Amino acid sequence: MSALLTAQHIGVQVRQARAWLPILQDVSLSIHAGEMVGLVGQSGSGKSTLARALLRLMPLSHGCVHWQGHDLARLSESHLRALRPSYQAIFQQPSASLSPRLTVFRAIAEPLCVHAGRRDRVALRRNTLQAMADVGLSEELGERLPHQLSGGQCQRVAIARALINRPRLLICDEIVSALDLSVQAQVLNLLMARCRELGTAVLFISHDLAVVRRVSDRVVVMQSGRLIEAAPTDQLFSDPQQPYTRQLILASS
Ligand SMILES: Nc1ncnc2c1ncn2[C@@H]1O[C@H](COP(=O)(O)OP(=O)(O)OP(=O)(O)O)[C@@H](O)[C@H]1O
Ligand SMILES: [Mg+2]
Repeated sequence: MSALLTAQHIGVQVRQARAWLPILQDVSLSIHAGEMVGLVGQSGSGKSTLARALLRLMPLSHGCVHWQGHDLARLSESHLRALRPSYQAIFQQPSASLSPRLTVFRAIAEPLCVHAGRRDRVALRRNTLQAMADVGLSEELGERLPHQLSGGQCQRVAIARALINRPRLLICDEIVSALDLSVQAQVLNLLMARCRELGTAVLFISHDLAVVRRVSDRVVVMQSGRLIEAAPTDQLFSDPQQPYTRQLILASS
């Protein structure tokens, strides 16, 4: 099976006090169609930096990222725009994914207008309301702005918006960390159900191992900017190979 996304030996450096500080080193990772990959590691280990590097939001100092065989660094802006619908991300703070000035309805409808070119207003309304219903948002929330929603509702809007064009891959960076436990479970359940229905692969980043264990087929572990262990979820939790992974599991149980 060929990979959707492949990162090969990537590195990211930041400039600090006249020196280059490596924050990702020699990271290689592949994500295949439809799989749920968990990414865990302590705070500051580089998880969000990896997400940003994979999304081309941060320049690489080393290595390359391929999307369905294409080197992202070599793609033109128009090519990148063309692949955006198939390659989506959601972040911890909905403010990072949602515009404060767009109503729920417009936020969810926007990717359909931009990418799928849906100008037919009746079809646009029908598809947007369906996308809202799919994530448990009622029609009357459609005219609200993000600041008029709860955190869980905001993340549902972000999920509906990210999935409306049926992406092949969704990167989720700590998307339930700011939510109450009961709301976390609801948001996770609907996210996983929708992604399984659509066949969308997920890179699920969290420092919460219990959450990662529930949603992932496979888990990769990051320590100090490097991937140090990768295994199918059951194997990683029952037989971790690295002392750091053992510590993470112990600390979470
Ligand atoms: N733009 C930047 N400039 C300087 N240092 C940075 C920058 N971005 C990230 N870092 C540093 O890189 C390291 C990794 O940060 P990152 O946000 O990727 O960690 P993380 O694993 O996502 O942590 P958390 O679980 O707290 O979200 C941290 O030490 C952070 O301070
Ligand atoms: Mg982070």
